[in-house]
Amino acid sequence: MIVFFYGNHRVLDPVVLGIETSCDETSAAVLRGGKVLSNIVSSQLEHSEYGGVVPELASRMHLRNIVPVVQRALEEAELGFEDLDAVGVTCGPGLIGALMVGVSYARAVGLAMDIPVVPVHHMQAHVHALWIEYGDRLKFPFLCLTVSGGHTQLVCVEGPLKMRIVGQTLDDAAGEAFDKIGKLLGLPYPAGPRIDALAREGSVRYTFPKAKVPGWDFSFSGLKTAVLYFLRQQREREHNFIQKNINDICASVQANIIEVLVEKAIEAAEAMSIGRVAIAGGVAGNSLLRARIRHEAERRGWAVYIPSMVYCTDNAAMVAMQAALHLSCGAVQPYETVADPALPWIEEIDCQCATHES
Ligand code: KG4
Ligand code: ZN
Repeated sequence: MIVFFYGNHRVLDPVVLGIETSCDETSAAVLRGGKVLSNIVSSQLEHSEYGGVVPELASRMHLRNIVPVVQRALEEAELGFEDLDAVGVTCGPGLIGALMVGVSYARAVGLAMDIPVVPVHHMQAHVHALWIEYGDRLKFPFLCLTVSGGHTQLVCVEGPLKMRIVGQTLDDAAGEAFDKIGKLLGLPYPAGPRIDALAREGSVRYTFPKAKVPGWDFSFSGLKTAVLYFLRQQREREHNFIQKNINDICASVQANIIEVLVEKAIEAAEAMSIGRVAIAGGVAGNSLLRARIRHEAERRGWAVYIPSMVYCTDNAAMVAMQAALHLSCGAVQPYETVADPALPWIEEIDCQCATHES
């Protein structure tokens, strides 16, 4: 059960509208007491021909989509604006124009309905996606490998409002590596899911170097360059090398990225004596990553938390979940509700509730 206070009101199992527009997904979700009543995600396919997200195009698409997407989320939840107790909105990190659409819309709803608007950190919301399905079954601390198109982080999660980054990428994110290598292979953006699907029909026949980065950090830009030179060399010998070997190339690239991620996550958890691991973010939808992290955790008798696919890639349910957790913990909002492309990571947010006191 989730309870929060707004002025003198005690709100039980609040109805929270979540809004997510940080990149190329326009999403709105309605949660009641932490349960998802609706989660609408409209992905902008318009970017695929450009090989990456075009910021201007993303802002314009969000502007077009935000009203119908929220409308559908409310309709599916069988609720109206008057039923909402709070709004949660992604304030950053992300693309400034894209974020501004969601933030402006959320603030307008808050003002019109006289309800609180909770600023949400996108990467922490990816971690909070775990609460949707696991809720009270989550035990702390756990180590979460958060892998998306813009970030790759190892996060030590000590409570809903207490999470520390212990490692991260020094250059490209894991999702970015999938997308950029996919572009070299002529695959449309986002290439991650395509590489995953093609790899299932192939085998690991080519080896690429793995960056040796000290500590718990990662580096993926070298892999992209290695694949670029490898493809150039092979195509000089055989012009249709990519077309003929696409499945094996995808399987080899995927194995390289996923092994680096899993090895580091497991090593870090072992070194920190944390017998619980989790994955989150778009790349957590990767079938090999899901299987490998589960295998390595179970082999050690560890708990493993893996969200459903729909809560891995960008979605507003995770945003509403973070907002609900902040409200139920009586958290003093750490951010202003303004779009901030470089929104900082706050390790510990002031928690007012008895259950999560440290
Ligand atoms: O979390 P997300 O939806 O958006 C960001 O916050 O960036 O992550 C998107 C990223 C993209 O790079 C996409 O290629 C990657 O996640 N991705 C995958 C898979 N599904 C999505 N990468 C590998 N395998 C997948 N199945
Ligand atoms: Zn994301």
